[in-house]
Amino acid sequence: MARLVIVSNRVPPPHTRGAQAGGLAVALKDALRRREAMWFGWSGELADPPGAPHSVTVGRHRYVTLDLTPDEERLYYTGYSNGTLWPMLHYRVGLLEFRREEEEAWRAVNERFARRLLPLLRPDDIIWVHDFHLIPLLRSLRDLGAQQRLGFFLHVPFPPPALFAALPRSEALLRDLGAADLIGMQTQGDAMHLSAALAEFGIETPVGAYPVGIDTAGFSRTAAAALTKRETTRLIASLEGRSLILGVDRLDYSKGLPHRLRGYGALLRRFPEHRKRVTFLQTAPVSRGQVAQYRALRRELDELVGRINGEHAEFDWMPLRWLTRPLARSLLAGFLRHARVGLVTPLRDGMNLVAKEFVASQDPEDPGVLVLSRFAGAAAELSGALLVNPHDPEDITEALHQALTMPLAERRERWQGDWQALSNPPGGNWAQAFLERLMRN
Ligand code: G6P
Repeated sequence: MARLVIVSNRVPPPHTRGAQAGGLAVALKDALRRREAMWFGWSGELADPPGAPHSVTVGRHRYVTLDLTPDEERLYYTGYSNGTLWPMLHYRVGLLEFRREEEEAWRAVNERFARRLLPLLRPDDIIWVHDFHLIPLLRSLRDLGAQQRLGFFLHVPFPPPALFAALPRSEALLRDLGAADLIGMQTQGDAMHLSAALAEFGIETPVGAYPVGIDTAGFSRTAAAALTKRETTRLIASLEGRSLILGVDRLDYSKGLPHRLRGYGALLRRFPEHRKRVTFLQTAPVSRGQVAQYRALRRELDELVGRINGEHAEFDWMPLRWLTRPLARSLLAGFLRHARVGLVTPLRDGMNLVAKEFVASQDPEDPGVLVLSRFAGAAAELSGALLVNPHDPEDITEALHQALTMPLAERRERWQGDWQALSNPPGGNWAQAFLERLMRN
């Protein structure tokens, strides 16, 4: 089997399965098992000058990482990737900030990565580049003479072409994407949007939907085992029999956290029978703290949490537990299993693996209920969830009430359908399906 070369901005450390990581790192680690691979990307470190790549080999996996200079981090990562492309791709054109200097630095970093990667490649490698940070790398590799099969996967949404056209220099970005042999997206809707945007410039690169899946049975076992961990036992004891509503996100404006908290506050007002009978635990580890919008969001949420707790708490009950530090994934699995309600309400999300992990973690005899935004990619697959429009916090309120009062038979029926859907995805294993098509093209 040919060696797989994965290129992504984040390269997870070889030995751990990570703390509460972003979706991309989680999804790819599962896809890598059992094959020879090289994973190439940013080390997460800064250095000036950036120096030579670091290389670590563990079994059949080699990890090669590069440092960024502080300027590169500011312009390429914080500036263009997270201050411009992230809001654009999540339909938030009002938050978009464009600076030519940042776009140019983004291109320059991509070219530097391509030059460093090239000498490490073998002729029969399959190269698979991931996510929006590294789009120009596709074109740079081709310009430098790379002939290998070259795939690209976008883990975030892609907006309708008329909206995407608001991005200055968007044509150049689309032309860079055109250097790939195959582009994978999370949903049919995203694939249609990107195909249409490419077609406007006569670019014919094939685009397909390969919804990222999880190892359903494996996660289920992890979750069942985690239930007896000391921390899970402590969490359960601290709830004193109350139902747990659980939210697990990065602290990001795409996740709809203020709407979610307001929806919960309204639950306690409109349906007072739940007062003192529920606890909402939201983990939201701080993310991209150098970006102004993220800092502003954190302030807004800290205030909102204080207001909701202040308004509804009793001297012996705190309705909302708010954690801005990351929790280990192995712990979260047990917490998810114990949760009565999984609350996943992004305003826009490529896929959202937490939604899938919640389903996988549940006890088949007594499953909890997933409340899911219709604007998460996962909504296309999880028809047993209660789907909400998170722009209307009271829609969240009503779904929470329905979830908390749902009879066991209905919970089982909804959960079983979703479990089946996740265990046997119609397209098979997403990474395998993508790579097979890439080789066939
Ligand atoms: C999303 C993106 C990933 C990114 C992750 C974490 O899942 O699709 O590319 O790695 O968020 O964000 P960060 O900026 O910390 O890498």
